[in-house]
Amino acid sequence: MPAYALLGAQWGDEGKGKIIDYLAQEADIVARFSGGNNAGHSVWNEYGKFSFHLIPCGVFSPQTTNLIGNGVVVNPDVLLGEIADLKDRSGIDISERLVVSEHAHLIMPYHIVLDRLAEEALGSGAIGTTGMGVGPAYSDKAARRGFRAADLLDLESLLPRLDTVLQHTNAVITKVYGGTEVPLDEVFEKCRRWAEGLAPLIGPVERIANRALEAGRHVLLEGAQGALLDLDHGTYPYVTSSNPTVGGACVGVGIQPRYVTSVIGVFKAYCTRVGAGPMPTELDDETGERIRELAQEFGTTTGRPRRVGWFDAVAARYSAQINGYTSAVLTRLDVLDGFDSVKVCTAYDLDGETITEFPGAVAALARCKPILEELPGWDSPTASTTELDSLPPRARAYVDHLQELIGCPFDLISTGPYRHETIKARAIIEV
Ligand code: IMP
Repeated sequence: MPAYALLGAQWGDEGKGKIIDYLAQEADIVARFSGGNNAGHSVWNEYGKFSFHLIPCGVFSPQTTNLIGNGVVVNPDVLLGEIADLKDRSGIDISERLVVSEHAHLIMPYHIVLDRLAEEALGSGAIGTTGMGVGPAYSDKAARRGFRAADLLDLESLLPRLDTVLQHTNAVITKVYGGTEVPLDEVFEKCRRWAEGLAPLIGPVERIANRALEAGRHVLLEGAQGALLDLDHGTYPYVTSSNPTVGGACVGVGIQPRYVTSVIGVFKAYCTRVGAGPMPTELDDETGERIRELAQEFGTTTGRPRRVGWFDAVAARYSAQINGYTSAVLTRLDVLDGFDSVKVCTAYDLDGETITEFPGAVAALARCKPILEELPGWDSPTASTTELDSLPPRARAYVDHLQELIGCPFDLISTGPYRHETIKARAIIEV
């Protein structure tokens, strides 16, 4: 004991990478539990600026073992490329302390083809996926058509199954979407190459994580995406295909839920969203543009401009309810430095009625208008502040107001992209 589940509390891109890197200093294990290379977790340090799509963000803490859990879908090309890039740029050979679950499903080349064809077919109703094949890989997992990392260790058994699966998949690609067949020999050749690179990394993640917890080690569970993109609890169908919420953290690494003593929700000081789907506080104006430019709110994985809006406390409370945060983290507070005033959404107007609960139906959410409170801005910067008492009083009032609305204290406040640009109000990992 104990495990700490660190989760995106909004629509992803909350700045989880920096916080994982910060907390990993006190962790023995960092384990990714969901999503794939649709995620882009940024860590900035003396080696450079890194965006990890699959490698867990504990890599810069030399004592950590980094795990990729069964809940993650792995594109081995991306993973092996990231491992090599990290070594080139920092000299860190993470392959010595990285284990990929034998049960993690693989993103096959045809999943990427399917992702793009399905989006094209949806036209104006497209989800706006990252196009990385994540959705089709999870669909195949549920349909029992998937391939797992361990399958790469037995290519002889893999080949006939791949043949069968590909016949089905190629029928969908050609007959449903009018696309071009993906040849069996090309995919099998890729599997052969992946097997060479990945085989030394494949291992029993569940056993490693549970044994570590049994021995009292600190295990940090690294969430990707965010609660409002959760397949079950998010704004379906405008969601990702996994469960970035607390239950997913246990299932996606295979640890016993009783070990999870802390659930940490990472909130950005405002909201962003990439892709389609309702976002009640969206700012389609100069203020939104100003925040986007100031914060460089462009997708780490796709480069798409992110939609920007004020902090949505209705959505935040919903996120807190389904996850039970014991700690919260506030990021990118510094982005709001210099605004005359800042706004917070505390309720929605739905067809003339004031509601304070997040609606269950996505169509209703799309009709919600934000009811906003206006708070005075602060005229001295919060950027790089490391002490709570040094925050400008109005910034402090904003922080206090948000934590009251969410119902959970901010134990960390991030005031810049580097590890040291952090206010520690309370220790999250007690060593
Ligand atoms: P997919 O996960 O690529 O299938 O995309 C489904 C939806 O989730 C799209 O709206 C994506 O923009 C969004 N999404 C997926 N991963 C992330 C992320 O890491 N940050 C923000 N949005 C994401």
